[in-house]
Amino acid sequence: MCGIFGYIGKRDALPFIVEGLKKLEYRGYDSAGVATLKDARLFLQKCQGKIADLERLLLRKPIDGNIGIGHTRWATHGKPSDENSHPHSDCSEKIAVVHNGIIENYLHLRRELAERGHRFSSVTDTEVIAHLIEEELNIKGTDLEHAVSRALKKLHGSFALAILYEGEKDKIVVARRGSPLIVGVAENETFVSSDIPAILKYTSRVIYLKDNEIAIITQDDISLKNLDGDTVKKEISFISWDPESAEKGGYTHFMLKEIHEQPKAIRDTIKDRIKLDSCQVHFDELNLTEEEIRNINRVVFTACGTSWHAGLAGEYIMEKFVNIPTEVEYAAEFRYRNPIIDENTLVIAITQSGETADTLGAVLEAKSQNAKVISICNVVGSSIARDSHGVIYTCAGPEIGVASTKAFTTQLAVIYLLCLHMGQVRGIINRNEAEEMIKELMAIPQKIEDLLQSEDEVAQIAEKYFHANNALFLGRGKGFPIALEGALKLKEISYIHAEGYPAAEMKHGPIALIDKNMPVVVLALLGRRYEKILGNIEEVNARGGNVIAIATKGDNEIKEKAQDVIYIPPTSSDLSTILAVIPLQLFAYYIAVKRGCHVDQPRNLAKSVTVE
Ligand code: F6R
Repeated sequence: MCGIFGYIGKRDALPFIVEGLKKLEYRGYDSAGVATLKDARLFLQKCQGKIADLERLLLRKPIDGNIGIGHTRWATHGKPSDENSHPHSDCSEKIAVVHNGIIENYLHLRRELAERGHRFSSVTDTEVIAHLIEEELNIKGTDLEHAVSRALKKLHGSFALAILYEGEKDKIVVARRGSPLIVGVAENETFVSSDIPAILKYTSRVIYLKDNEIAIITQDDISLKNLDGDTVKKEISFISWDPESAEKGGYTHFMLKEIHEQPKAIRDTIKDRIKLDSCQVHFDELNLTEEEIRNINRVVFTACGTSWHAGLAGEYIMEKFVNIPTEVEYAAEFRYRNPIIDENTLVIAITQSGETADTLGAVLEAKSQNAKVISICNVVGSSIARDSHGVIYTCAGPEIGVASTKAFTTQLAVIYLLCLHMGQVRGIINRNEAEEMIKELMAIPQKIEDLLQSEDEVAQIAEKYFHANNALFLGRGKGFPIALEGALKLKEISYIHAEGYPAAEMKHGPIALIDKNMPVVVLALLGRRYEKILGNIEEVNARGGNVIAIATKGDNEIKEKAQDVIYIPPTSSDLSTILAVIPLQLFAYYIAVKRGCHVDQPRNLAKSVTVE
């Protein structure tokens, strides 16, 4: 949701900002802009469109300076247009503000500012911030940082901000509340960014800004303050991600690269957590004692989107291995539902980015009701990781494609390990069972590598169906969350309308949609529900639908019932989710490519949804 990038140093800021914005483009891509300071003058260029459009504009109308800020937008208030693009300015055009988040009381503030004579050039919520700072700066003796802190006290809502002011030629002031912002510390230069991948090339040392903190960044210094002007201690964290992981590495799209990275991502996620000699699992930052685990009487998974699907898959194995009543809640529903939870409830928040506004809200709500909250998160030091009592990191590396792939399968691996651990602590899983479960999990990366060998077959099947307007995905048991995830992948990147359903529900409505133009993807793995799934396939066939079955290698019977079959290697039903989703990721990918869609940056979407 909008990307912010800033540079201050001895070199020309613009190339860094444009490069940084390209890396952040996955967060929003409907308009972009930059502002620089040179010789105590502010220069600003912005336009509707992608970063490439901004680059063309900058070629025609270049600006320079050693200090600058930039923005790539995902529209919230006001349609994408040149006027609504960031940076926004005040009446005197001496201040430039870039913003990620939503100012909830902007209408009220805008009315007041207009009454006091301010003129607005956009319909955004952001512009009020520039005018509020302008007013504060008009008070004699006020410098930028004080003007910013006073202005911020008037704002309701969320923000990550970077601000330049012509009157202070050697300074960027940045601030955050609820939206992510990091400061990258390098030799003789400092970077500001919404996310880590954009600065990895320049530094691994970062300061995570906390809510209501302001950083005052000059050529020689970085200082942190709270809104009352008190100095806050600077904590520099080290990022272990490899800079290469933020590049495409020869793949056409990040999504394809990330699909192929799944064996490594899962190996990295599980390797240091399994103690092979004792068949036990260890998590460094779980922060959950054995006694607490024994006292839990209810588990709630909460998340959004793909991460919610991981929670839904988790419900099945949590109940099976840990024997605790488990629910899965959309974070936005959970947080406003007055959930009945207490200190014996374990709330597990699942999130790739660690910044999703609704999931963060759910975490804070759960904590306020004394529940124990742990998060499963991919970004070290992110807001949700910090705000939870304990955290288990997925080690997927940066996920840049907007459609989540490797984050999802590593979440599934972590949930499996967590259930194994909790099941052992509660005396439900014995050592032999644990040994068997670990063996199966450790075999998964190699099985994914085998599965990826059939990528061309999936691409050929995608070729047959890429014209479809609608698709249905069916699954039973643990196949159901994967059906939902397969449908989500297809709709978000190919814009084909797709629905995921529990297979048995088909006859209660969706069956009316089935005809020869409707591909029906069925999770038909061998196991307890296999016969029932075959029955559902027959029902689709009887109505002229086309079945694409995801089946277990060795199952020849299915070939007679489905038009197309994609095989996955056999594994335990509890891990089949990880394998079964991979052909569905590839299916969506190849259909989207065939339809000429922008795979890594699908329309209307943005990675990391930091607004409610
Ligand atoms: C879909 C997708 C989204 C995210 C959702 C939650 O491919 O990526 O549905 O899963 O926005 O994001 P995180 O996991 O960052 O909280």
